[in-house]
Amino acid sequence: MSDETPKIEERENGPLIAKHIHSLTGEDGAALEVKPVMALCRCGQSANKPFCDGTHTKVGFESRGGKPEGPDKFFTYEGKEVTVSFNPRLCGHAAECGRIASNIFDANKKPWVQPDNGTVAEVEAVVAACPSGALQMGTPPETMVAEGRAEIMIQKDGPYWVTEVPVETDSSAEGISERKNILCRCGKSGNKPYCDGTHRSAGWKSGD
Ligand code: FES
Repeated sequence: MSDETPKIEERENGPLIAKHIHSLTGEDGAALEVKPVMALCRCGQSANKPFCDGTHTKVGFESRGGKPEGPDKFFTYEGKEVTVSFNPRLCGHAAECGRIASNIFDANKKPWVQPDNGTVAEVEAVVAACPSGALQMGTPPETMVAEGRAEIMIQKDGPYWVTEVPVETDSSAEGISERKNILCRCGKSGNKPYCDGTHRSAGWKSGD
């Protein structure tokens, strides 16, 4: 019997190979046709995004190198009723947390997470919405194992938001989750295959 477990494999200096994904959503929110095996561009330069067209070879894309941003460790923020953990190395700076509850998650404050400034329900909602898995409930974090619908959502001029798809990579970070990851699409992250937010600072445009 063939193995139809959803997964994403890294190709060295090449694309991400997505296998048995249930849905793929384009930048405009429209569903794209899903094939059992798809090569997704992550050099940022394919003329056929989101799919790889071989341009990575021409442009000399390197899937390693660069300088990972932020320490690879979970910091914990304890409130009276709830504790939140955060690993900066996994954060793709999608900023969902500040958008949803800036009363609790505010990068301009110290500490930047203050669980007691909101309700437990608000904290839980933000952690559930965090697309990278960098924010987790409790301490120490446990590896969250994939168990639901395998989906990839492509962000406008940004990365792949991946849910419920384990990523096969030799790159690792503490407490990495199989349930949520943000994967680099622009080719510029210092922490590939994960996004570190460089697409934004580099002003990368997908051209899709
Ligand atoms: S990874 Fe192949 S064209 Fe971008």
